[in-house]
Amino acid sequence: MSKKYLITGGAGFIGSHLAEALSVDNKVIILDNLRSGYKKNLDGIKHDFVEGSVENRRLLEDVSQGVDCIFHLAALISVPESLEKPFETVSINVDGTLNVLEAAKKNKVRKVIFASSAAVYGDDPAMPKVETMLPAPLSPYAVTKLDGEYYCSIYSGNNWVETSVLRFFNVFGARQDPASKYAAAIPIFINQALQGKAINVFGDGEQTRDFVYVKDVINALTWLLDKGNSEVYNISGEGIISINELAFMINKMCKNESPVVYLPERPGDIKHSAASIDKLKETGFKIKYLREDSITETYKYYKENIRG
Ligand SMILES: NC(=O)c1ccc[n+]([C@@H]2O[C@H](COP(=O)([O-])OP(=O)(O)OC[C@H]3O[C@@H](n4cnc5c(N)ncnc54)[C@H](O)[C@@H]3O)[C@@H](O)[C@H]2O)c1
Repeated sequence: MSKKYLITGGAGFIGSHLAEALSVDNKVIILDNLRSGYKKNLDGIKHDFVEGSVENRRLLEDVSQGVDCIFHLAALISVPESLEKPFETVSINVDGTLNVLEAAKKNKVRKVIFASSAAVYGDDPAMPKVETMLPAPLSPYAVTKLDGEYYCSIYSGNNWVETSVLRFFNVFGARQDPASKYAAAIPIFINQALQGKAINVFGDGEQTRDFVYVKDVINALTWLLDKGNSEVYNISGEGIISINELAFMINKMCKNESPVVYLPERPGDIKHSAASIDKLKETGFKIKYLREDSITETYKYYKENIRG
């Protein structure tokens, strides 16, 4: 049966993919202030667009009426930016999340699904990261994501609203913004290589990441609509890759002969990140996309739509 869903941050990279998937059979409302998202990400996707901030509690109460589930993805998304702007980070990420939960409680929304982050684990060398580990956030961004998780747990613990939290590891795919000052590695590398430029790596490139294809993240988000408990789940891909390996793979894919250039490490960046997704798998969830195929699909998208 067709449902009504609210996606905060729906004009962003991940939110627009979620809107695309949900809008096939359901009514989708997007609340986004276009801080880092773009209306053009929603071209061809059926939705109602509300331009505004999750910091606006009244607006949230308004747009969440009659909604079955709120997917809360709106955030100040960057670790370095959060170190520069801690107060704004708290306002968007903590007050915003509380506003979402309060609106859900008030309007008897069935469920809130919250986009958290692997950043909550910090730089603990223990691998892979499992949900039972003690969090060790190293940036305002990570602290605010952890705050959001705790608020979700309070709201579900009191039976005010069901909640599920997904800790995303490094997500990649089409529509990720390579032009932003805080863009992620895969779209930047692909855009640099496609333009025959050197690939810029922060640090020595030996840092590892657990990349996950955006379509697997969307499958996990929609899976949690009816599966999983009011708990925290990791979502990542098929294992770690070093930034150097990634740069090499992308250079080869784009037939780019430019060198890799090493720049100073960024403050707040963690060295290694690998996830266990056993807890999500125990609910029956399966990763569907292979890394190399997904990177190739992403490369094809940017070949048609160079944005860097
Ligand atoms: N991309 C990743 O690898 C990754 C990893 C971990 C967690 N996440 C989380 O996933 C979510 C989506 O991230 P993304 O990669 O799609 O980033 P994005 O920047 O493309 O999307 C975030 C969206 O939120 C919107 N937004 C920001 N502040 C807002 C506000 N005050 N009110 C309403 N909308 C606002 C932006 O305009 C943007 O459309 C975020 O919560 C992010 O922290 C992403």
